[in-house]
Amino acid sequence: MINLLVNILVFVMEKIYGDKPYPRFYVLETVARVPYFAYTSVLHLYETLGLWRKSDWMKVHFAESWNELHHLLIMESLGGDSNWFDRILARTSALIYYWILVVIYLFNPRAAYHFMQLVEQHAYHSYNNFLMAHTEELKAQPAPAIAINYYRDGDLYMFDEFQTGQHSGIRRPLVDNLYDVFVAIRDDEKEHVKTMVACQKPNAYETFHSPHSPEVKNLPDEELQAIETATQLAIDGMKEAKQTVLK
Ligand SMILES: [Fe+2]
Ligand SMILES: [Fe+2]
Repeated sequence: MINLLVNILVFVMEKIYGDKPYPRFYVLETVARVPYFAYTSVLHLYETLGLWRKSDWMKVHFAESWNELHHLLIMESLGGDSNWFDRILARTSALIYYWILVVIYLFNPRAAYHFMQLVEQHAYHSYNNFLMAHTEELKAQPAPAIAINYYRDGDLYMFDEFQTGQHSGIRRPLVDNLYDVFVAIRDDEKEHVKTMVACQKPNAYETFHSPHSPEVKNLPDEELQAIETATQLAIDGMKEAKQTVLK
């Protein structure tokens, strides 16, 4: 089921938008944002019903959707949403994926996080391939204003909030040109993979916290290193990744 949902999304991305990168990224970012909203919705519902409270998880997932929103705004600033067909496809798919992910998250949160881990891995590779194929032309173009504000000049609290892999320190991406912006977006996708890996760990209920919470300072280095290793294995497509995640 999870693989089917991911494969449908990847199929649409590869077959319909293979040679049109900005519309393709626009559709990807529109759809890839809503699962975080689905998780937040369900967590909010649990709090409202008094079942259990995980407010800092909501904050992290909102920060993840806030990060994806800025990817989306960057794609819009590059003209990715200029065609009505792309807008309809993206918005309809987002609506469908939202409700599917609400149901999956209600019954199996780990599967919902695994879905998003796979989507984020796909996004990482898509941007990485794009960067390798268009290096020189991207370096010759300016960074959009929205990217400069999000990555450098604005309030960076929300940018830091979604990055669970604090082991490697605080990221401050360069935004001198469009190439830098796509490097930042690609690296964001890797940070999302790390967060999704951390959320799937069997002890996540105790160990997963907002990067701004005092508890995160108490996370042992081995825990952070395990997340880092599982993320790299997953991105490299290694089979051991799942075992490492579930340890
Ligand atoms: Fe993204
Ligand atoms: Fe993403």
